[in-house]
Amino acid sequence: MSGHGTPIPMSSHRSATLNGTAEVPGDKSISHRSLILGALSVGETVITGLLEGQDVLDTAKAMQAMGAEVVRDDDGTWRVHGVGVGGFAEPDQVIDCGNSGTGVRLIMGAMATSPIAATFTGDASLNKRPMARVTDPLALFGAQAVGRSGGRLPMTIVGAHDPLPVRYTVPVPSAQVKSAVLLAGLNAPGQTVVIEHEATRDHTERMLAGFGAEITTEDTDEGRVITLTGQPELTPQTIAVPRDPSSAAFPVCAALITEGSDVLVPNIGLNPTRAGLFTTLREMGADLSYENEREEGGEPVADLRARFSPDMKGIEVPPERAASMIDEYPVLSVVAAFAEGQTVMRGVKELRVKESDRIEAMATGLRANGVEVEDGPDWWIVHGRGQGNVPGGATCASHLDHRIAMSFLVMGLASQSPVSVDDGGPIATSFPVFEPLMAALGADIRRG
Ligand code: S3P
Repeated sequence: MSGHGTPIPMSSHRSATLNGTAEVPGDKSISHRSLILGALSVGETVITGLLEGQDVLDTAKAMQAMGAEVVRDDDGTWRVHGVGVGGFAEPDQVIDCGNSGTGVRLIMGAMATSPIAATFTGDASLNKRPMARVTDPLALFGAQAVGRSGGRLPMTIVGAHDPLPVRYTVPVPSAQVKSAVLLAGLNAPGQTVVIEHEATRDHTERMLAGFGAEITTEDTDEGRVITLTGQPELTPQTIAVPRDPSSAAFPVCAALITEGSDVLVPNIGLNPTRAGLFTTLREMGADLSYENEREEGGEPVADLRARFSPDMKGIEVPPERAASMIDEYPVLSVVAAFAEGQTVMRGVKELRVKESDRIEAMATGLRANGVEVEDGPDWWIVHGRGQGNVPGGATCASHLDHRIAMSFLVMGLASQSPVSVDDGGPIATSFPVFEPLMAALGADIRRG
């Protein structure tokens, strides 16, 4: 499990051109949800393209521990025999969700309205992250939570015996909180209503509808109002998981900053609640095109083509775009270092409670590599040095955070001196094939 193993130091070196096709793995958000909704259906859900990263494998194990049968065929197809809404068994061991905030928060929601207890833990990163944002609304259904001080894991949830439906306005822009409430609402009678002021990724809503739940979304003056009718019988599905835009971000950004590059990243999910980075890069002047745009499984999909873009300019990223690119700010800050002028990122307080404090982790590493960064509680500004002018040369701490490790390794491909990370191990949580995929494009990324 990531964070439990020996650190894997890695370094990244100035590379010639990156060329070729980068087939990134399946979407992490959709992979977790496929397993959980499969486990809550009656019958067999068949999943292809599942992300086989540690985060998702931990969710698969959790679903088994709660009574679902989860098997992987030799060809990489996953089959989930679900127990039905309200059918979870009480796990007889602690559920270890490793590094995954999405895994633990969604599973807590999914079990909170069943009459079982479960104890959750994670790695050193996950055990620092706030859980009250999920346990507060789960308490409204009648679930009880006892954890460490500050609402941290390890934590036991005792599910509600007679759950009540809930009307809840999500106080922070978080798809995990929204999803936990909706999944809890599945086993409550009547209508559960979730209101969000800023639209966050909507995979849970789309997939619940796909599994046959009655769910509606309305944009109102109050915000986005999502209404779910409880106690449906979910129908098992065949799911082809689209490739992850958050993983695509790494080869795309690497190509934009590495001289002469031309990289195709096919079949990327471009759900508008996820695609903010690509819009931002285009506004900065990136040579990034969408080819072969189409719909697959109800999600917009395209092939991304990224070419070396030496004339990118820093921009002010609109704060209202933050939720649609929340996981991509670390790698954006790397591209910003290679652009001319300032890139201003505001309204991003949530970055401080991810797998690491991502503003702190990136600002510290960028400064160590010769890039000026200003930061405050919910904002940061990267002062671009322009193509070819990023010094590099430092070792950065990845803080058990896959996206911090990958971002600095992207940076080293085009900086004057190599960039190192103290531990590339966490990359396996979301992008287990990052090293061979980048090497095949021509990236010089080494262990040690
Ligand atoms: C996710 C939601 C986001 C994101 C995470 C995946 C999801 O977290 O950062 O990587 O799948 O719902 P928040 O809900 O904390 O914003």
